[in-house]
Amino acid sequence: MLKPNKLAKNNFLSSLDLSTDEVFHILELASNFKNKKINIDLNNKVLGLIFDKSSTRTRVSFQVAMSRLGGTTIDLNPTTSQIGRGEPIKDTARVLSRYCDVIAIRTFEHSDLEEYSKWSTKPVINALTDLEHPCQALADFLTIHEEFLDFKDVVLTFIGDGNNVAHSLILCGALLGVEVRIACPNSYRPNPLVIKKAREIYKNDNLLKITNDPYNAVKGANVLYTDVWSSMGEENQKKEKDRDFNGFTIDSDLVEKAEKDAIILHCLPAYRNKEITNAVMESEKSRIFQQAENRMHAQQALLSCLLC
Ligand code: CP
Ligand code: NVA
Repeated sequence: MLKPNKLAKNNFLSSLDLSTDEVFHILELASNFKNKKINIDLNNKVLGLIFDKSSTRTRVSFQVAMSRLGGTTIDLNPTTSQIGRGEPIKDTARVLSRYCDVIAIRTFEHSDLEEYSKWSTKPVINALTDLEHPCQALADFLTIHEEFLDFKDVVLTFIGDGNNVAHSLILCGALLGVEVRIACPNSYRPNPLVIKKAREIYKNDNLLKITNDPYNAVKGANVLYTDVWSSMGEENQKKEKDRDFNGFTIDSDLVEKAEKDAIILHCLPAYRNKEITNAVMESEKSRIFQQAENRMHAQQALLSCLLC
């Protein structure tokens, strides 16, 4: 029976906190959990969840993953705990890490997540920040692996905002050697530091492409991926972003330009007929709900490695 290996780093704040081998190990473990080939009991370990932003998939998949590992979860609601009253992160982190064995945090500033990890004596997991969504990327590459059985020759085209989800796809894609193309309006290009880090990992510079032409970007692509145009916290920019992203919708026309075997991914929640049409979401090429399910298997694997 495959066993979880301890990870070199204590925290999972960024896709780059894992090595290539560790990503492959987590994906293999996740697949084993999914196919019920392994069963791990963590003996009542406790996961604390802090969500400063809304969540359906991340929250529930962490809760179910933890319960499948024989552990429990405490969902801290920032508005009813002292977090919402402004208790300093360094105090909250030191207290919670005396109660919990691991803490998953969804917040705005990535630096706040880093502050939690600095003061916590227990592993901290990034459940999404404005900069990265690394747990999402693990589930995404698990879904891609299930489809193509290998990452060799896979071309992943992300069409949308070059922010958190795109950043984690770029970084995890670099670790796995997957060709990643980002198609976005010029003013929504990914963070240059993320691009720089990815280019340092890629052995071949051509494997990461940023363009403002979605039609060009999908030629030869096996995976078309999108995310909301206005992320959480950007609600007041909705009008402007809807205008700026005009022409970046994944519709049947765009899907036709990709490879015949292309699949469609979306991290969800989706705004139909904005970033993706209803027809594409509901098409037989969509693996969107398999991808959502895989959040749970990937996080079960991640938790078992962080807590073993
Ligand atoms: N994809 C994702 O993180 O979904 P939630 O916002 O529902 O957690
Ligand atoms: N980019 C989106 C992802 C949601 C899972 C957001 O940050 O709201």
